[in-house]
Formats: sequence, structure tokens, C-alpha cells
Amino acid sequence: MAEEAGFQVELKPGTWLRLVRGDITQAEADAIVNAANAQLRHGGGVARAIVRRGGEVIQRESDAWVRRHGPISPERPAITSGGSLPCRFVIHVVGPIWGEGEEDTKLRQAVTAALALADEFSLRSLALPAISTGIYGFPKNRAARVLFEALADYFASHPDSGLETVEIVLYDQPTWEAFVDAYRTRWKGTSEA
Ligand code: APR
Repeated sequence: MAEEAGFQVELKPGTWLRLVRGDITQAEADAIVNAANAQLRHGGGVARAIVRRGGEVIQRESDAWVRRHGPISPERPAITSGGSLPCRFVIHVVGPIWGEGEEDTKLRQAVTAALALADEFSLRSLALPAISTGIYGFPKNRAARVLFEALADYFASHPDSGLETVEIVLYDQPTWEAFVDAYRTRWKGTSEA
């Protein structure tokens, strides 16, 4: 198991947010979130790792999605099967490229739309990566703050959400440190796992 125990906080009764260090392709969640591009061409970063581990079926289903619905946007994610990954589904979101404008709003929309799609499919567990903080260059600490706020707000306004676990899976050391730092600032005094 590549993941280590992380930090956890209850966002609403029965719904926990956890920070974990690891590789999201190994996450045993109902769905994992992919940090994709609008055309769902999974050529680099976490997207590439997802297709490499889950199989070309994920790219084929992504291509079919774009042919049918057009490119995705922060407010309109896509969903495919998980291929041979441990998860059942992959929810593909596109975050902002740093510098394109309205980055916080777009990142927040991408996270919120992923949660809404997970609820539409009655999923109980979701794992997401640090969307936009790799190739797209979004500052890591700022991304962590936006993600935490989007998650907290979603569950405050969706008390009936069936999601029980949301894991943020952090792959590299600088991203892990930035998220831990933002976590401590936001939820100082809460217990660590
Ligand atoms: N598990 C979890 N996180 C991962 C993994 C992995 N296996 N591999 C990379 N990451 C992390 C990166 O370290 C980074 O913190 O995911 C975060 C997001 O990085 P990117 O994958 O580069 O995603 P993003 O910045 O949103 O850029 C999207 O990159 O992969 C392409 O097709 C994608 O064009 C799109 C762009």
C-alpha cells in the first residue's frame, strides 16, 4: 500500500476529509478524480499515470465522452470507468492553468462539480489529487486553501451528501508540505490520524 496515514477532519457528521501521501492510482475509493485537460488527452502527470495503470479503456471512454459532449470545463466534468484500477470510476476534471485568470473560482468549480457528480452516482468515497498544482502551475499552498474551502462549503450546503470519505492524495513532498501547512492553518487543534 503506497499510502500513509494522514490528517483527518470531520466536515459534516459522518463525512471525513483525509490528507494522505501516495499514488492515487492505488486508492481504493469508489472514484478517483483525474486532473485532466479540456480535451481529455491524458498525456502527462497524474492523467498519464491513471491511463498507464488503469488501461487504454480509460482513454477510449474519455475520447467517446468528448465526441459526445464536447470538451470538459471546470463546471462540467466527465466520468469514465476505472478500467483495471481499484476504483470503480474516474471523474475527470479540468482545473485552471495558472495565469489564465479567475483561477481560484475555476479550481473551486472543478472540485465542487466533482463532488456533485460523485453524489449523483451515490458514491461513498472519493480520492482527489492536487488539481492544477503540477503542469498547470497553480501555487500549491493557495490551491490547498481553495480545495479545503470548496470541500467545507460543499458539505455545509449538502448535509444529505452520501460521501463518507474524501481523500486528498498527495504524491510529491513539496505538495504534501504545502497541503499540511494549509491544513494546520485551517484546522489547527484538530487531531491528527
Ligand atoms: N497520484 C497522485 N498525484 C499525482 C500523481 C499520482 N500518481 N502523479 C502526479 N501527481 C500530482 C502532481 O505531483 C501534482 O501535485 O498531481 C498534481 C497535479 O499535477 P498534474 O498531473 O500535472 O495536473 P495539472 O497541474 O492539473 O495539469 C493538468 O497535465 O497531465 C496533464 O492531461 C493533463 O494537460 C493536463 C495537465
